[in-house]
Amino acid sequence: MPLNETEAKYYLSYARIHETVKRLAGMIAAAGFDPDVMVAIGTGGFIPARILKTFLPKPILAVGISYYGIDNKPSDTPRTIQWIDEVEQKLAGRRVLLVDEVDDSRVTLEYCLRELLRHRPKEIAVAVLHNKNKEKRGRLPLEVEKYFAGELLEDRWICYPWDAEDIVAHERRANEPLP
Ligand code: G4P
Ligand code: MG
Repeated sequence: MPLNETEAKYYLSYARIHETVKRLAGMIAAAGFDPDVMVAIGTGGFIPARILKTFLPKPILAVGISYYGIDNKPSDTPRTIQWIDEVEQKLAGRRVLLVDEVDDSRVTLEYCLRELLRHRPKEIAVAVLHNKNKEKRGRLPLEVEKYFAGELLEDRWICYPWDAEDIVAHERRANEPLP
């Protein structure tokens, strides 16, 4: 039976995301990974990183990567909106946890990981709330040995609460069973 537009999307509540982040923190601890610093990929990774800090209290650095530049024009490859500048020296020799909301095509993640690896961290691991079960266009560099995903979801559009214009309607939908 074909799914209609609404059923084909995942609506996720803030509470569910908080639970997913908590589980993610448990996975990171169980793997024995103790980062010195988190790097959040903006903008989707900002709120997940902040919630993660509740369970894993580490400083958060932020980078802005998007397919849309500040002029809001789309491009074929990820573009740097804002990057760690003088702070980037601080990545050398440190354990870094890169945080984003979703691993979709993996192109942005790969771009960001390669940039961060240039600053010679001791180790980089990746934590995402959601990994979409699909063929990826980007690859995790070989140096990246630890990858944590809070949930594996089918390849459908995920509606995050921070994108909602009507949060009450969003949370109502989010509390219906997942498609
Ligand atoms: P990836 O490496 O993490 O897989 O990211 P990819 O380049 O494939 O993603 C491109 C953009 O699409 C990202 O946003 C990402 O957050 C967004 N995206 C991909 N799938 C979904 C989804 O199911 N739901 C939502 N809401 N967004 C999705 P961006 O343009 O880089 O910016 P921002 O939204 O993080 O600010
Ligand atoms: Mg994003």
